[in-house]
Parts: sequence; C-alpha cells; structure tokens
Amino acid sequence: MSSNNTTIGSGTLKTAIVWAMSVALGGAAAQALAQKANESTAGEAQHIAATVCFACHGPGGVNDNPMFPNLAAQQPAYLENQLHAFREHKRAEPTAQHFMWGVASRDLDARLIAAMAHYFAEQPAAKGIPGDPKLVAEGNELFHKGDPKRGLPACASCHGPDAHGAGPFPRLAGQHKEYLLKQLHLIKDAIRNAPVMHGVADKLTDSEMVALATYLQSLN
Ligand code: HEC
Ligand code: HEC
Repeated sequence: MSSNNTTIGSGTLKTAIVWAMSVALGGAAAQALAQKANESTAGEAQHIAATVCFACHGPGGVNDNPMFPNLAAQQPAYLENQLHAFREHKRAEPTAQHFMWGVASRDLDARLIAAMAHYFAEQPAAKGIPGDPKLVAEGNELFHKGDPKRGLPACASCHGPDAHGAGPFPRLAGQHKEYLLKQLHLIKDAIRNAPVMHGVADKLTDSEMVALATYLQSLN
C-alpha cells in the first residue's frame, strides 16, 4: 500500500514537473516570440521613418523647414494621438489633409503607430533658436503666468515649466516658430480640432502668439 502510494506520488510529481517545465518553456518561447515581434515592429517603424517620414520631417525628426514640425523628443502619447487623428480624419486642417492623411492610413496601423511614436520620442530634440530678446521675455512671462484677469491659464500648467510636454500635452520647446504660430491660429479659428486648447487660443492676441512662438522656439 505504502509503496503504491509512493509510486502514485512520484508519478504525480513527475507529471507536475513535466507540466511546470512545459509551462516555463512555453512561457519562455512565447516571450522570445513576443520580443522578436516587438523588435521586428520597431525595425519596421524605423525603416518607414527613414524611407517615408524623414523626407519631410528630417532625419531623426529634426528639420529646418517650418512647414514640417520637428518630431524628435515629442511626447509619445501626443504623437500616437495625432497619428490616429490623421488616420481617422479628425485632425483636418488643409495641410494635415494634404500631407498626413494619406501617409497615416496607407503606411501605418495601430501597432506601427505605437512603435513610430516610441521611435521619434527617443530621438535627440532640435536645438532652440534664439529670437528677439524682447519677444522672448514677453512670451516667457505669458507662458509661465498666463493672465488671470482674462482667465488665460499659464501654458506651463499643461505643457510643463520647460515646455517639454507630458503625455497628451505636446512638447513645444524648440519647435519651429512659424509652425507654432500657424497651429495657434488654426486652433483659434477652430480649423484644427483641439478641444482643450480652444479656450486658451481664443484669448490670445496676434502679437501674444508671436511672442509665445518666439519664446518657445528659443528653448532647448
Ligand atoms: C509629404 C510630407 C510629409 C511626410 C512624408 C510625413 N509628414 Fe508628418 N506632417 C507633415 C506636415 C506638413 C505636417 C503639419 C500639418 C499641419 O500643418 O497641420 C505634419 C504633421 C505631423 C505630425 C503632427 C506633429 C505635431 O506637432 O502636431 C506628426 C505626428 C507626423 N506628421 C508624423 C509623421 C510620420 C510618423 C510620418 C511617416 C510615417 C510622416 N509624418 C510623414 C508632412 C509630412
Ligand atoms: C489646459 C491645458 C492646456 C493649456 C493651459 C495650454 N495647452 Fe496647448 N495644448 C493642450 C493640448 C491637450 C494640446 C494637444 C491638442 C491635440 O491633441 O490636438 C495642445 C496643443 C498645443 C499646440 C499645438 C502643438 C503642435 O505640435 O501642433 C500649441 C502650439 C499649444 N498647445 C500652445 C499653447 C500655448 C502657447 C498655451 C498658453 C497660452 C497653451 N498651449 C496652453 C493643452 C493645453
């Protein structure tokens, strides 16, 4: 009886060991496969970046044509949101339609969008370009303090004290002045749909926008 028990016991133990090993090996194999898939998605994203995106946004997402926003060091969540918005035709200013709708729906899917966002977020940021010191000082003041009398919030409260952004709030530091100005006007005129920003852009005068964009372009 007792030897029988031992046999059953060791048999059960063996089964348990084989089962545990297969789970462990299966888990490792699955992990290796998942890692390989991630690596190949990252590779694919880099390939598309170099062969498609760099043509306009520049190598590593930095360029000197203000028509094309710098993408380097941008917040990954913001990049993902924008690429989905182009794909779903929700970001619909004319330049977005002409330049980004086709690329976003032809070359990208959700998996590649995530990898692409990760890739550009990791690239070294564009260097700031110094501007007229008077405008920089005015922009700096408005960016950090807003204007409570008019109900204008400090930009820094969402975009961060150094304008490096956070999550869905984009990095603005070192971005092209003309691009920033254009976006502020598009948002104010409700041509670009950016719900949280409308209440802010509505309150900005043209000269305040120039000061803010000059200040932001000067930052690293
Ligand atoms: C033919 C030129 C062109 C190509 C190629 C292109 N883009 Fe763009 N992209 C633009 C333009 C122009 C804008 C700005 C649209 C606007 O003014 O609103 C833009 C905007 C963006 C934005 C929004 C940036 C921001 O700060 O809001 C992202 C993100 C973006 N592009 C990613 C990509 C990616 C990723 C690729 C490659 C798959 C790519 N673009 C390829 C021209 C291009
Ligand atoms: C309450 C939060 C909030 C405040 C305050 C705020 N922003 Fe924004 N801003 C956002 C969000 C969110 C977006 C992204 C909108 C989207 O996803 O399209 C944005 C987008 C922008 C963009 C477009 C960037 C790009 O790459 O296309 C500019 C420019 C901008 N903000 C400037 C400012 C300035 C200047 C101020 C201060 C006067 C300011 N923002 C205050 C939340 C805020």
